[in-house]
Amino acid sequence: MINYQLLNEPKLKNNPVDINRPRKDTPACENIIHFNNAGASLMPLPVTKALHEYLESEARIGGYETADLYADSLDRLYVSAAQLLNCQPGEIAFVENATRAWDMAFYSFNFKPGDKILTAVAEYGSNVIAYLQQAKRSGVEVVFIPNDGHGQVDTGALSKMIDNKVKLISISHIPTGGGLVNPAIEIGRIARQHGIPYLLDACQSVGQIPVEVDAIGCDLLSITGRKYLRGPRGTGLLYVRNTILNELDPPFLDQHAADLISPTEYKVREDAKKFENWEQFFAGKYALAVAIDYALSWGLDSIQQRIYGLADYLRNQLSDLDDITVTDEGIEKCGIVTFTSRSRDADSIKNLLAEKKINVSVSDGSGSLVSFQQRGLKQLVRASVHYFNTEAEIENFVNCL
Ligand SMILES: Cc1ncc(COP(=O)(O)O)c(C=O)c1O
Repeated sequence: MINYQLLNEPKLKNNPVDINRPRKDTPACENIIHFNNAGASLMPLPVTKALHEYLESEARIGGYETADLYADSLDRLYVSAAQLLNCQPGEIAFVENATRAWDMAFYSFNFKPGDKILTAVAEYGSNVIAYLQQAKRSGVEVVFIPNDGHGQVDTGALSKMIDNKVKLISISHIPTGGGLVNPAIEIGRIARQHGIPYLLDACQSVGQIPVEVDAIGCDLLSITGRKYLRGPRGTGLLYVRNTILNELDPPFLDQHAADLISPTEYKVREDAKKFENWEQFFAGKYALAVAIDYALSWGLDSIQQRIYGLADYLRNQLSDLDDITVTDEGIEKCGIVTFTSRSRDADSIKNLLAEKKINVSVSDGSGSLVSFQQRGLKQLVRASVHYFNTEAEIENFVNCL
């Protein structure tokens, strides 16, 4: 089995020399400029090797037999994720993506007519759909917290909106359609002060910046594997704080989440695995643990510092172009850089860049409908950088534009 001795590697700095190693671990860097890390990042070699190794074993000796052989390595995921988030392994569930992780948390609440959910204007589209579905089903009221002048959640307004009807505060830490980083810690402080459960969609933040659940004060947090963590597609994680675990009743239970005791009784397990399925993407689970260890080996502070440096450089370069308007909001801006062009629509820019082997994506508002409608936006080009990108790639990108 692979033993990646990564934890003592030198930390990544904002110095191009230090990035040789992650670029070597990312062979695609030789052929493409990948600025679609908020879509799906490039897996580093240790992660792809782990995936191949696991699948190859399944083909050679059998799926159940491989799971037995790799039992300790599969369990390692919970320890690595706990290290990443600064929580307990028993507070982690492995699921198939961030949306399902978030759903398992959200649909565990038993909302009553008149209860309120407070959320952000830049909330992720699937989450808004779930709120609206619950509003239809149970009469819960969905209330959007206004933005402040910087486009982030107005925490002063949030404080004033708290009353005894508020049963959940639920926001996206880094929304999908721009560089905005919401003030998650201040929101957590308000949630704790009033004893209101706090669900954080950390799909774009985990792997990009340090995200520690105690520092933030969230009770539930959802993660995807394939974006800034550089893990495989089809993997995700849910964090559930121990103190809230007992109160939540998962929307689905199977015989991994619960034990069938008699024809009329079952007992739900006590740890966060009650939010999991018995059948899982085991190769992905194994490789996601490797991806988390890989991120930890660079250090999340160093990763954030490098990503923020690259994104600032990109924004500055773009703002020198007459044709381009950078559209990122927020006081703190992350590695997601979004912009419009006066002369071309976002799809045609994406296609032209693809011809030059540069990957970007288009945010068409489906992921951030409420915010896009409020801002009068239809489509943005989204160029999202990671620590393995370089200043030279940014210059090349800007030249192409
Ligand atoms: C903020 C946010 N939340 C949730 C998701 C959904 O993640 P997944 O596709 O892993 O379910 C995304 C995906 O882009 C996202 O940006």
